[in-house]
Parts: sequence; structure tokens; C-alpha cells
Amino acid sequence: MNLLNKDKIPQHIAIIMDGNGRWAKQQGEDRIFGHHEGVNSVREIVEAAGEVGVKYLTLYAFSTENWNRPKEEVDALMELLVATISMETPQLHKNGVKLEAIGDLKSLPVGCFNELQESINTTKDNKGLTLILALSYSSKWEIINGVKEIAEQVASGKLKPNDITEETISSHLCTAKYPDPELMIRTSGEHRISNFLLWQLAYAEFYFTDTLWPDFRKKEFYDAINAYQSRERRFGKTSEQISEKAK
Ligand code: IPE
Ligand code: IPE
Ligand code: MG
Repeated sequence: MNLLNKDKIPQHIAIIMDGNGRWAKQQGEDRIFGHHEGVNSVREIVEAAGEVGVKYLTLYAFSTENWNRPKEEVDALMELLVATISMETPQLHKNGVKLEAIGDLKSLPVGCFNELQESINTTKDNKGLTLILALSYSSKWEIINGVKEIAEQVASGKLKPNDITEETISSHLCTAKYPDPELMIRTSGEHRISNFLLWQLAYAEFYFTDTLWPDFRKKEFYDAINAYQSRERRFGKTSEQISEKAK
């Protein structure tokens, strides 16, 4: 943490928390054991993000595609989600964390949806870290919804096709309120984005690690930010242009 440049902390970090199942298998346990241990990593990373001054932390917790897992695993994950939200909300609230969620939340079991809404409501005025859970989320789902809304506006004459800009698209995604993530982390050695924030990650820096999510803790989170800080973000320009501007 001491090595981090306080002036170059990403405002928004997005994480694909992957590898819980493999972690459990390595211990000779059921996959769900790994999901439980993964909650400890979530707690630690949320704390670390707040401490270093990250403003938004988006965690990919359950994808649209994850509904296709065996029913026992889906049910166990939903139960774990309810239990975790209910157990962690008091501490999150105390730490000034504001909880939000993106995704097809209506598709969650009703108990889960209600627990989530309650926690979002409890923490809504907090001014610290905004913790965004991506639940029943997929980027293609989100883009389809956004395109439908835009098409409605065009059909009703409120919007001209020619007036559609990058901003129009961004404002019709679930992430409309948030700046794009500068850093995306994926654990467990997989090098793909699995339908996560396709539009929003257009210029993000990616940090991939073999560490499985239950083993991903503060130290490696700082390592990821450190790696981010050593990258040169050029946005299509030349390196010379970037160093000229820094002078
Ligand atoms: C990530 O771990 C958690 C969820 C997708 C819910 P996995 O459950 O994908 O674990 P692996 O990738 O099978 O090891
Ligand atoms: C991505 O992990 C989704 C979450 C971490 C919630 P998966 O384990 O579902 O991804 P794939 O299917 O292996 O790409
Ligand atoms: Mg996985």
C-alpha cells in the first residue's frame, strides 16, 4: 500500500471474481465451500478499496450465464448472497459504503431481491466507496435493453438517429451513473471477459492473475493497482504526446 501513488488511484475498479470452485476442489471440498471462502475475499477487498480511496468498485458476482449451472449450486449461491448481504450490511454502513447493484435484478429470487433492496436503501446516503454488485448481469443483456430504449425514443420522434452519440449509449446502460472502470482485474488464470462491461471496459487496463478468488487478498489488490500505475495509458496517442503532456 505504501508503494502506491496516491495521485493515481483508479476511481473505478471492476473485478471478475473467478476460481471459487477450483479453490474448493483443491481442498477436496464442494464448490460451494469456495463461494463461502470467496466472501472473505470480498470483505477484505471492499475494505482495501475504501482505504486507498477507490470511489467505485464493481464486483461480478453472478452472470446471466451462471443461471445455467446445476440448480443446487445456483440455489446455494442465492442463499449465500442473502446471508452475506444481511450479515455485512451493518459493517458496510458503518464504513460509509454505499451498496448498489446492476443486472436483471427482477430475475433474482424474491427474498434475495428484497434483502438487496433493503441494504441498498439503508446505505443510500453514504458518501464513501460505492460498491456495485453485478448480479444476473451480462453486458449483452444490458446493451440490448439500452438499444431498445433508444429505439423507442427514435420511434416516438424524441430522438433523431443522427443525434445518437457515445453519451446516448452510455446513458442507457445500467452503469450510466458511474465513470468507466480504469482497471479490470480477473482472478483464476482465465483470460477473458465473460460478458462483463463490454462497452465500459473499452479503454480499461486489464490485470490477470492466476490467484484463485478465495486467495485474492489485500496484498495482491495493491499489486494490481501498482501494475496499473506503471502502465502508460495512451488512448490512441503516441508515447511522446503523453510524456509531453506530463511535463
Ligand atoms: C466464481 O467462481 C464465482 C461465480 C461465478 C459465481 P467459479 O464458481 O466460477 O469458480 P471456478 O471458475 O469454477 O473455479
Ligand atoms: C464469470 O465467471 C462470472 C462471475 C465471476 C460472476 P465464470 O466462471 O462464470 O466465467 P466463464 O464462464 O468461465 O467464462
Ligand atoms: Mg469460473
